[in-house]
Formats: sequence, C-alpha cells, structure tokens
Amino acid sequence: MNLFRRKTIDACLQDIANPETSLKKALGPWHLIALGIGAIIGAGIFASIGTAAAGDLLRPGAGPAIILSFILTAIACGFAALCYAEFAAMVPISGSAYTYSYATLGELIAWIIGWDLIIEYAVGNVAVAISWSGYFTQLLSGLGIRFPVWLATDLRRALASPEILAAAPHIGNVPIVCNLPAALIVLAITWILVIGIKESALFNSVMVLIKLITLGLFVAVGFFYVKPENWQPFMPNGWAGVQAGAAVVFFAYIGFDAVSTVAEECRNPAKDMPRGIIGSLIISTIIYIIVAVVLTGILPFSQLNVSEPLALALQKIGAHQSAGFVSLGAIISMTAVLLVFQLGQPRIFFSMARDGLLPPWCAKVHPKYRTPYVTTLITGFVVAFFSAFASIDEMVDLTNIGTLFAFVLVCVGILILRVREPNRLRPFKAPLFPWVPILGILSCFYLMMGLPQITWIRFGVWLAVGMIFYFAYGSRHSRLG
Ligand code: ALA
Repeated sequence: MNLFRRKTIDACLQDIANPETSLKKALGPWHLIALGIGAIIGAGIFASIGTAAAGDLLRPGAGPAIILSFILTAIACGFAALCYAEFAAMVPISGSAYTYSYATLGELIAWIIGWDLIIEYAVGNVAVAISWSGYFTQLLSGLGIRFPVWLATDLRRALASPEILAAAPHIGNVPIVCNLPAALIVLAITWILVIGIKESALFNSVMVLIKLITLGLFVAVGFFYVKPENWQPFMPNGWAGVQAGAAVVFFAYIGFDAVSTVAEECRNPAKDMPRGIIGSLIISTIIYIIVAVVLTGILPFSQLNVSEPLALALQKIGAHQSAGFVSLGAIISMTAVLLVFQLGQPRIFFSMARDGLLPPWCAKVHPKYRTPYVTTLITGFVVAFFSAFASIDEMVDLTNIGTLFAFVLVCVGILILRVREPNRLRPFKAPLFPWVPILGILSCFYLMMGLPQITWIRFGVWLAVGMIFYFAYGSRHSRLG
C-alpha cells in the first residue's frame, strides 16, 4: 500500500467534469466575498475578543495590545490566504485544503487534513452555536422572557452548578440538561442548506449586511466614550499576552479559507477565488482593528472577560438600546457563520467520499436540489448533538489548533507544487515565492504555540483516532488505490 500516492491535479479536474458527481455553478465574486465575511465575522469578535484581552485561567490577557494580536493574526492569515488563493484558483474543487494536499502531499496527509478540517468546520460550528445560544438567551431575558437555564447550558457548567442541577427535571436520578437553542439553530441551518446553495448565498448576503451595520453601530456609539487612559498599560502581560491573545482571536479570522470550499460552485474561479478569499480577509481585518481600538478604549480590559463584551461595553456607557441592537446583530452574525461552515463541512466529506476515502453514499447529490444532502444532514445532526452539550472555550481552542495546522499544510503544499510542477497554469500566484509560504508556516506555528497544552493533547488524540479510521476504511477503499 502506498501511503503517499497522489491524485494528480488533472484527475481532480476531471471529477468536476462528470455531471453525476458535480455541483451547480451559481456563485459570482460578490457572493464569495459575502460568503467569506459571512464565515469570518462572528463569535470571534463578539465573544472571544473578551477572553483574549482579559485572559483567563489558562492564559495571560493581551490587554489593549489585543490590537497588536489582531494585526499579528491578520499577517499570519494573510500569508495563508495567499496560498489558499493560489490553490483555489488552480484547483477549483469543493474539497479545499483536503483536495490540495491530495494533489501535493499524498493520500495519507490528505486524509489527515480532511480529518483535521472536521475540527475547523464542525467543532468550530459547535463553538459558534454555543455562543449564539448565549446571546439568544441574553436577548430574550432583555425582553423579559426567562429561558430555563437547564435548557441552555453546557454539561460542564451544569455539573458544576448545584442550582442548575436542582432546577433541571430528572428521569430517575439523571438530570436533564442541554443547550437546546444551540442545537435547534444548527438544525434550522441544515434544513436551509439541503434546499440549495443559491438560496443560501442570498440569505447569507442579507446577514452579512446586518453584521456590518451592527459593528458600525458599536463603533459609532462607542467612539464618543473612548477614554485614552484605558489604553494604559498597553501591554500588561508583555509579548506573551499578545501571543496568547493572537492565538485566541485567530478564531475571529477563520472563515476566509471556507470560501475555497465552494470553488466548484463558482462561475469564474480563476479570478473570483483570490478576490473572495483575500477581499474578505482584508475587510474583516480593518473592521476588527477598529472594533478592538474602541472596545479597549471604552472599558478597562480586565472587565472584558464575559461572553458578550461588546454589549457589556455599551451597557456600561448607558447605551442600553444600542446594546440590545448589538446583541441582536451578534445573533444574526453568528447565524451567517454557522451557515457558511455548515456549507463547507459537507463539501469536504463529499470530496473525500468521491475519492473513496469515505463510503460512496456520502457523495450523493440531491436529484432535485443538486446539493450534497447526505453529508449536509450528517454534519447537521452531529454538530447539533455536540452543541447541546459541549463548552465553548474548549471548542474555540481546539478549532484554532486544527485550523492553524491545516493552514501550515496548505503552505507546505504550495512550496512543493511550485517545485514539482513549475509550469502548471496558475491563474493566481502567491507573490514573493518562496517567502510567503515559508512565513505562513512559521507564523501559523507561532500562533499554535500560544495555545494551552491541553489543547495540543486533545488535538494529538483526534489525529490518532483519524489514523485508525484511515487504516480501517480509507486506505482500503481509496479510488486511487
Ligand atoms: N470566524 C468565525 C467566528 O468568529 C469562526 O465566529
């Protein structure tokens, strides 16, 4: 068995010529930028920014220097984005990093990356759904509706809280606790995605507009309450705080790469993939830096470690109505994130199944809607299940390490392919070769080093489980094999 057998790029391109296993082409450049922003701006800026600035038990806070964390992370993502853009324009196939590594690094690494992307998309979505539920119940309580706490909690919090356990109904001795809103929003999104990509892209564009207005409102209202003394001390925990903060706010940037998962459904991938990936990253970076400047200017950073720091900041300056609007906007923003990630995960499974690494029924396209409905449904149910029980901070850290690892492998893939196939047509080329991919590898690794040890251990276990699956199924059924 050859673990490093490669699927040639030409073979990848042939797959999408077959109407039985190819997807409908409906997306243009603005759809892609909107999909990118749809995936990018969400729980990261509305929730994780607080943890990153204030720190927690596992890491030092960045303080006002969270602004530097955002810039640092943007640079690392920029290198990776250029590499993604080169690949997505050259191999416009739905599997994203998975497909790229199959063509460059061989089947075993492709499997590892496909498995790893489950962490980015599915685990990432678990984190966003939990955050969504937090803002949702918060908004309800602002409207005077109290959602039962045992129906909107993660397992860890419930087990540590005698009040929640006492309030929960019991079957025999077992208390019933879960995060119902988180699970329900995931199921609703799944239903929309089965119906079709064009409709979901439109739905996404509307939500993107709302999230831009929401953050605009936050900045416009908050700007007048900025007190420069809150920016002192700027770096309370020195560079270690900035690095740890960068490793957390990385979550806020995840998503520009998700644009590449719809490459196959794009009308002109050669031009529009780079525009979608890089455009959405640049726009989000500018917005994040402005929001971070205003947020750390309104409140002392040590007060920011809450699940809704933007809404809290507005409440503290007495802008209660704006705080309500921002909470509502956060909910809508995170809905858009959920949509793009729920869209991306099935397309990666779909590509893996098409290659025989997953069972063939995973590659079925819906006869009427032309969507990969089997994998969409499976993803929906699994993510909904975990959203109902998992806790958010662990999910964010795990998502970040998995995604950074995928970015590293994509940069490695660009290096290898440039050397191995220098003459292949590249509609878009990452500039300054070989520096961009090399700096991408180093900077992503640097961010990984900012994550807690327990996250590394979990990630190692996840990869080991993936290996077992590969040798038990994928390696024997691989179409290439
Ligand atoms: N970037 C996405 C978010 O912040 C995952 O929600």
